[in-house]
Amino acid sequence: MDTSPDVLAEQVRLKRSAIDNDLELLRVKVQNKRPTRDDAVRWAQRVAPVVAGSVGLWWWTKRRHAIDSLDELLTHALSDLYQSEQQTIPSLHRLAERASDPELRSAFIAHAKETAVHVERLDRVFRAISRKPHRRRRSEGIAGLIDESDRLLHRKIDPDVRDAWLIASAQRIEHVEISGYGTARTYAEMLGFERAAQLLQETLDEERAADEKLTRIARRFINPQALGSAGAAGF
Ligand SMILES: [Fe+2]
Repeated sequence: MDTSPDVLAEQVRLKRSAIDNDLELLRVKVQNKRPTRDDAVRWAQRVAPVVAGSVGLWWWTKRRHAIDSLDELLTHALSDLYQSEQQTIPSLHRLAERASDPELRSAFIAHAKETAVHVERLDRVFRAISRKPHRRRRSEGIAGLIDESDRLLHRKIDPDVRDAWLIASAQRIEHVEISGYGTARTYAEMLGFERAAQLLQETLDEERAADEKLTRIARRFINPQALGSAGAAGF
């Protein structure tokens, strides 16, 4: 084999030339590449399941949250109450910690215990109508009232005025729940769920009693002088 420099140089030159030709061919091939009908079909086959899955998920979510009957509306109302009651328990304990009046404090604690019974009773209501509560993070309405209550309590405030505010805050929540239980009880009656209606009426009576108790406490101990010329908080 001839290994003289000239021969080797010639071999290298030929190989480089071959490589350059291959590269040029490849470049022309890529440039001329246009999507064919088969390419479009293959692409559609890959994308179609993703699109179909997304549309199916959207439709299923929409259907899952649809309320198209009184039956479903009752489940929605009960689910809202279920969340509200669970959010209210820690809130009542916070109100009890901040109350100055001992009777007010024990009224909040007693109602927190009663609220735990209301949650358990709602479980029985769901069983009575063969439904389950909707999974939701929280009731936005009650959360708003609790946030509003907490906002004022972060400020420096006279103890009597604070107790008046605590009662007003608790009663706002009570009134929302009384309204919710009244509505749910009526729906249950209209749909013929007698046992559920009876259970809801029991809680409604207890919520009203708790509300009246707070009004009695407010009238007994709150010093109108402490409340200034406005006189009464809206009990
Ligand atoms: Fe309650």
